Amino acid sequence: MSEEAPTLLPRHVAIIMDGNGRWARKRHLPREAGHVAGVAAVRETVRAAVDMGLENLTLFAFSSENWKRPKTEVGALMGLFRRFFNSDMDELVAKGCRIRIIGHRGRVADDIHSMIEDAERRSVANKGMNLTFAFDYGAQEEIVAAARELARAARDGRLDPETITPELFASRLFTSALPEPDLIIRTSGERRLSNFLLWQSAYAEMLFLDTLWPDFGRADLAAALETFSQRERRFGALNSESAA
Ligand code: IPE
Ligand code: IPE
Ligand code: MG
Repeated sequence: MSEEAPTLLPRHVAIIMDGNGRWARKRHLPREAGHVAGVAAVRETVRAAVDMGLENLTLFAFSSENWKRPKTEVGALMGLFRRFFNSDMDELVAKGCRIRIIGHRGRVADDIHSMIEDAERRSVANKGMNLTFAFDYGAQEEIVAAARELARAARDGRLDPETITPELFASRLFTSALPEPDLIIRTSGERRLSNFLLWQSAYAEMLFLDTLWPDFGRADLAAALETFSQRERRFGALNSESAA
């Protein structure tokens, strides 16, 4: 199939990049080797997304639950994140990407925290693709933080609870600057969201692929966009044919 992007592009694609460990196991390699290969897939996918003119790409890189993994694996993932930021950020900023990191932040190492802030600051005026990494991200935590903030405002008399709407609530989430994802892709054959963008995915199209993340690349993204362009979205209403 053509690797050209189809005409009906989703505005926002979010990807749960899963399957690094299984990719490594199949090759009798340590899990870390799968994560290294996963970074190469990130590189290729981000570049493809920019070339295809995607407006928003969000990548789930590390969940708030991934801290439960063995220390050595968490350390390896943090090391890879550092290396990726050091090696790729200049190019991504030069390509016009606006970088954001959504997640807890308070739990990551100080130097990673500084790298995150630096990348966001350096790309703040960029008008190209919004490239968001969900890193130490958990949707339930995000939703609870938003609820807590609104509750505090109400307690202090700064907010009338009756004025809380879905839009107001969404404006308190990490993703407030982004449109809701139109397409969520998960690789590796698992069919769950694993605490990713729970609020934001209300009307997202889901695409579950058996491909393991390190094997994902430009052609897979193009195929996913093609699949999306054939989905019929209704948002609870009727399509024009049924309504006629
Ligand atoms: C995804 O791959 C990367 C992260 C969750 C950080 P996994 O490490 O979850 O790979 P599998 O699911 O064990 O194959
Ligand atoms: C989800 O994958 C998190 C990321 C891809 C970063 P996991 O591998 O952590 O999810 P579960 O544990 O299989 O649900
Ligand atoms: Mg996994």
